[in-house]
Amino acid sequence: MAHYLAAVAWPYANGPRHIGHVSGFGIPSDVFSRYMRMAGHDVLMVSGSDEHGTPILVQADKEGITAREFVDRNHRIITEDLAALGMTYDLYTRTSTRNHHAVVQELFLGVYGNGYFVEQTTHGAISPSTGRTLPDRYIEGTCPICGYDGARGDQCDNCGNQLDPIDLKNPRSRINGETPKFVETEHLFLDLPSFIDSLGSWMGTRSEWRPNVLKFSQNLIKDLRPRAITRDLDWGVPIPLDGWSDQPMKRFYVWFDAVIGYLSASVEWARRSGNDDAWKEFWTGDAQGYYFMGKDNIVFHSLIWPSLLLGQNGAGDKGGEAGRFGTLNLPTEVVSSEYLTMSGSKFSTSRGTVIYVGDFLKEFGPDALRYFISVAGPENQDTDFTWEEFVRRTNFELANEWGNLVNRSISMAHKNVGAIPKATNLTPADHELLAQSKAAFDTVGAHLRRSRFKQASGEAMRVISAANKYLSDQEPWKLKDDPDRRDSVLHTALQVVQDANTLMTPFLPHSAQQVHEALGGTGVWAAQPQMNEVSDLDVPERSYPVLTGDYAGEQARWESTPIEAGRPLRKPSPLFAKLDPKLGETGPEWAPIVID
Ligand code: MF3
Ligand code: ZN
Repeated sequence: MAHYLAAVAWPYANGPRHIGHVSGFGIPSDVFSRYMRMAGHDVLMVSGSDEHGTPILVQADKEGITAREFVDRNHRIITEDLAALGMTYDLYTRTSTRNHHAVVQELFLGVYGNGYFVEQTTHGAISPSTGRTLPDRYIEGTCPICGYDGARGDQCDNCGNQLDPIDLKNPRSRINGETPKFVETEHLFLDLPSFIDSLGSWMGTRSEWRPNVLKFSQNLIKDLRPRAITRDLDWGVPIPLDGWSDQPMKRFYVWFDAVIGYLSASVEWARRSGNDDAWKEFWTGDAQGYYFMGKDNIVFHSLIWPSLLLGQNGAGDKGGEAGRFGTLNLPTEVVSSEYLTMSGSKFSTSRGTVIYVGDFLKEFGPDALRYFISVAGPENQDTDFTWEEFVRRTNFELANEWGNLVNRSISMAHKNVGAIPKATNLTPADHELLAQSKAAFDTVGAHLRRSRFKQASGEAMRVISAANKYLSDQEPWKLKDDPDRRDSVLHTALQVVQDANTLMTPFLPHSAQQVHEALGGTGVWAAQPQMNEVSDLDVPERSYPVLTGDYAGEQARWESTPIEAGRPLRKPSPLFAKLDPKLGETGPEWAPIVID
C-alpha cells in the first residue's frame, strides 16, 4: 500500500468559483483520489481557500468590509460548493489560520538558513493613501511610446509594448484614481538561479508528465531570475526576521504563502487526527505527490514550489542542511489542465459569461458536471463549454446509455424474479461480456493512475455500450418460456451493471451510491465529504468551516465484486433526468446564451 498526497490547487477566496475553476483543480483531483483509494492506497487529499493578496484587499475595500470579513464569507461559499460537488478532501482548510502562518514561517526560515533568499532594493509603486504596494496591473496612464491614454503599468494594449509603470505619463491608480508614489523599498527574493542545476536534473526524471506541462516548465529553467516573495501590504503572513517582522507593511507575497499550504494543511490534518507526525507518511520516503491545477498555475508548482522544497531540504545548487521538516518529497507529477472556455473567451469573472458552480449544481447535480468535465473537459487543450454539448452528453451518455442500462436490467429482474436472478447455464456471449467488464478494471485503472480521464471514462463507457448491445441481442423480454435462460441473461447483465458501476464510481460517486442501493446493497458505497465547523487549533475563539471525511469506511473497491443471487431488488427510480434539448439553444435563465 503506497501513500499518495493529492495536492489540490487552492481556490482564491475572492468570490464564488465557476465551472472553469473546478474543471482544472477540482474534478480531476477527486476522480484521481477516489480511484486511488478504491485501488487500496492511502490517500491524503488537501487544499483550502487562498485568502491573502492585493485583489482580495481591493475588493473588500470596495465593499466597505474588512479583508477578514470578505474571506470569511467567500471561504464558506466555496467550501459549500466543493462539498456539494463531492470533493473528498481529507482537509479543506484556509490560509488565514495560525497553523498556516507558522508553517509558512518555519519553511521560510529553513530555506533562508541555507542562503537561498537575497535582499534587494527595488523601485515600487505604492498607494499614498494606504501605503500598500500597487501592483503593475492596477496602474494606468499614457503610453510613453504611442501616446495611448489607457496603457496599463505592465503593457500597452494599443501598441503592444511591455512597459514599466514608472515610465507611464500621468500614472494613476485604477483603484481610486490617485497618483501612485514610486518609492525605494526592500524586498526578499527567492534566488531561483541557484536552483537551475538541481531543478533541471530533477525535471529530467519527470518523463511521465503531460508533454505540455513538461516542455513548458523545462523551457523556463535556464532563464530563471530572482523572484520577489514579499510585498508592501498589511494582509498576509508576516516575515519572521529581525527588522521585518515588526513592519506592518511587509508581508509574504500571496503565492509564496499559498504553495506552502499543501504542507501546512497536511500538518493541520495530522494535528487534528491526534498524531502530529502523521503528515510525514505522505511527504517523505516512498510517498508520491500529485498536484492538480489549471495551466496558469504551472510555474508555481513545477518551478517555484520545487525550488522552495529543494532549498528547505538543503538540496539546491548551493547545498545546505535539511530544515525543520526534514527531507520533503518534490512533486511526482504536476497535473495541469488547459482552460475551459466559453465561446472562445477564457471563463473570467470580469468578462461576463460566468457559470457558477453553486448555480450549476442546484440545477443539474454534481455527477453530470463531473462526468462532462471528465469526458469532454480541457484535459489536453483549451475546450469550449457549450450547453448543447452538455445536453447531448447528459441525455445520450448518462441517461440513455448508463441510466437506461441500470433501469431496464434491474426493472426486468425485479418484475420477473423480485431478486437478483440465478445464473444456471452461461453461453459464450455471457462469458464474453463478463470478461470484457472484468478486463476493464486494468485498462481504466491504468488510465486513471496517469490522470488520463478522457480515456478512462471512454473505456468505462464501452463496457456500458457492450452491455446494452448484449441485452438487445439476447432479448430477455422474449424468454418467458425459458426462465432459466432469461435469468442467466439478467444475472449477467446485473453483474455487468455492478462492474460498470464500480468503474464509474470515481466519476459518478453520487449516482454510484444509488445504483449500489438499487442492486440491493446497503451501507456506504462511495463516501462523501462532510462540512464541519472547527475552531482554529491555536486561536480557539476563532472558528471556520472545513471539509473532511471518513473515506476508509466506504465499500467501493477497484475490482469486480460478484453479485449475490437471491438478494431482493426494489423497483428502481431513474438515475439521470433527461434535459430539455431547448436548454442547448438558450442556456439556463441564470446563464443565458447571448447571441451577438
Ligand atoms: N489561488 C490560486 C488560483 O486560484 C491557486 C493557488 S494554488 C497554491 O489560481 F499552490 F498556491 F496553493
Ligand atoms: Zn502604446
